[in-house]
Amino acid sequence: MRKGSLYVTVLTLLLLGDGWLAEAARGTEDGSEEWGYVEVRPKAHMFWWLYRSPNRVDDPSKPWPVVLWLQGGPGGSGVGIGNFKEIGPLDSNLKPRNSTWLQKADLLFVDNPVGTGYSFVEDPGLFVKTDEEAATDLTTLLRKIFNRNERLRKSPLYLVAESYGGKYAVTLALSVLKAIEAGKLKLKLGGVALGNSWISPEDFVFSWAPLLKDVSRLDDKGVKKSKRVARKIRRQLRSRQYAEATDSWSELEGLILSSSNSVDFYNFLSDDGTDPVSMEAAELTRGVSMKRCFGYSNYLKTSANQDINFDTLMNVIVKKKLRIIPANITWGEQSGSVFSALQGDFMKPRIEEVDELLAKGVNVTIYNGQLDLICATKGVEAWVKKLKWKGLKRFLSLDRTPLYCGTGSGTRGFKRSYKNLHFYWILGAGHFVPVDQPCVSLDMIAAVTQSPAST
Ligand SMILES: *[C@@H]1O[C@H](CO)[C@@H](O)[C@H](O)[C@H]1NC(C)=O
Ligand SMILES: *[C@@H]1O[C@H](CO)[C@@H](O)[C@H](O)[C@H]1NC(C)=O
Ligand SMILES: *[C@@H]1O[C@H](CO)[C@@H](O)[C@H](O)[C@H]1NC(C)=O
Repeated sequence: MRKGSLYVTVLTLLLLGDGWLAEAARGTEDGSEEWGYVEVRPKAHMFWWLYRSPNRVDDPSKPWPVVLWLQGGPGGSGVGIGNFKEIGPLDSNLKPRNSTWLQKADLLFVDNPVGTGYSFVEDPGLFVKTDEEAATDLTTLLRKIFNRNERLRKSPLYLVAESYGGKYAVTLALSVLKAIEAGKLKLKLGGVALGNSWISPEDFVFSWAPLLKDVSRLDDKGVKKSKRVARKIRRQLRSRQYAEATDSWSELEGLILSSSNSVDFYNFLSDDGTDPVSMEAAELTRGVSMKRCFGYSNYLKTSANQDINFDTLMNVIVKKKLRIIPANITWGEQSGSVFSALQGDFMKPRIEEVDELLAKGVNVTIYNGQLDLICATKGVEAWVKKLKWKGLKRFLSLDRTPLYCGTGSGTRGFKRSYKNLHFYWILGAGHFVPVDQPCVSLDMIAAVTQSPAST
C-alpha cells in the first residue's frame, strides 16, 4: 500500500464484550487516510474510508471539496470497486492511478448499504428494504464523520453516484438537507452527480429494445417480445407491484440476452468479455449473474494486467492494512442478500426526488456513458423530460457545448447546463464512465466540484 501507511491514529475504540470493534477509526500516520466502522443502528455496522488529497490548496474563495462515492448494485462495494477499480489513488494492482479523482477532491468511500463489502449486520433482519432506509443509515454515518471534524465541515460534500447509487444519492441528499435544517448534521451539501443512474426503471426497460434495434443487435421479433415484457413491467409499476416488477425486469434481461446473442449490458459495443470492470460487480444484473461470474473469472485468468486476484486483495492484503475488519467478515464484491432485501424498492422511480432537489436549488449533474445499455442515455433523456422543474423547457432548448480532453482533438462528449441542472454526454464510455473515459471524467469532476486544484 502507500508508503508511511503504518497505522496509528486511534480515534475511538470501543471494544465490545465479545471481542470485536463496534466503532473504530484508524488511519495512516501522515493523516492522509482514515477509515472505520460506524454502528448506524444497533448491530448494523457501516465501513467507511476517507482519503485526503495531496493536491489540496486552501483558497478561501473556493473551498476544497469532498466526494462521497455511492456504488450501485444494490450491494456493490464502493470501498472495493469504486476505490480500486474506478477513481481511487491505487488501482487493483496497487499501482498509482494517474486519473484518480483524489487530484481534485478528498474521497470518501463507503460500503453501503450495511451488509455490503466490509459492512455487516449481526442479524439478517437488519438489511435495508428501501432507499430511504439506506439514506437514513448514511445520514447517521455522515453525522459521525462530519460533526466532529472541523476541517471536513468546511469542505462542501458532493454525492457522486453510479448506477443504483443514484437512487441512494437523491434520497440521501434530501435526508442530509433535513438533518442540516434540524441542526443534527453539520456539513455543506455541494451537489449531487448521477452517473448512469437507475433513476427511472420504467424508462430504462423501454429504452433497451429500440436502442438495440438501431445498432443492429436486435431484430423486429426481439423488439416485439421485449416490448411486451416492458409493458407488463409498466402495468406492474402502476399497480405498485414492485417485487413482481423486479422479477419481470429479470425476465426482460434474459429475453434480451437470448435475442441478442448475449449483448453486454454495460457496453453494447463490447463483445469480447473484456469489460474493464469486473463482471462480478454485477450491478443491476441479477438476471444474468451466471454469465457474468463466468465471464469475470475468464477475464481474470487471461488478463495480462491483473497480477493480484481481487478477492485476495480485499480479503487478505487490504484487510491486513485496515486491521479492524472482524476476522469472520468475508468481503464480497456484490452482496446478494443486500440486493434481495431491496427487491421491493428496486423498481421504484426517484424522479420526484430529483425534482425536489432542483426546486431547492441544489446543483444536480447527470452524466452518462454513450455505450451503456442498462442505464442507457436514451432512458435518461426520457426521465429527464418528465421533470416538473420550471427550468426544463429552457434547459432542453439550449445548444450543447462539445468537450475535449488531453492532447487529442476528438470530441469526448457534450455538456449542457441551465441554472442548477447540468448534463454530460460522455462519448466512448459504457456504464463505468471513469474507467472508460478517465480524462474527460477527471475534468468533469473538477468542474462539478469547482475544485481549486490546478489543472
Ligand atoms: C495515464 O496512464 C495511461 C496508461 O498508462 C496513459 O495512456 C495516459 O495518457 C495517462 N494519463 C495521464 C493524464 O498521464
Ligand atoms: C463474528 O464473530 C462474533 C464473535 O466473535 C459474533 O458475535 C458475530 O456474530 C460473528 N459474525 C458473523 C457474521 O458471523
Ligand atoms: C452550482 O454550480 C455552479 C457552477 O456550475 C456554481 O456557480 C453555483 O454556485 C453552484 N450552486 C450552488 C447552490 O452550489
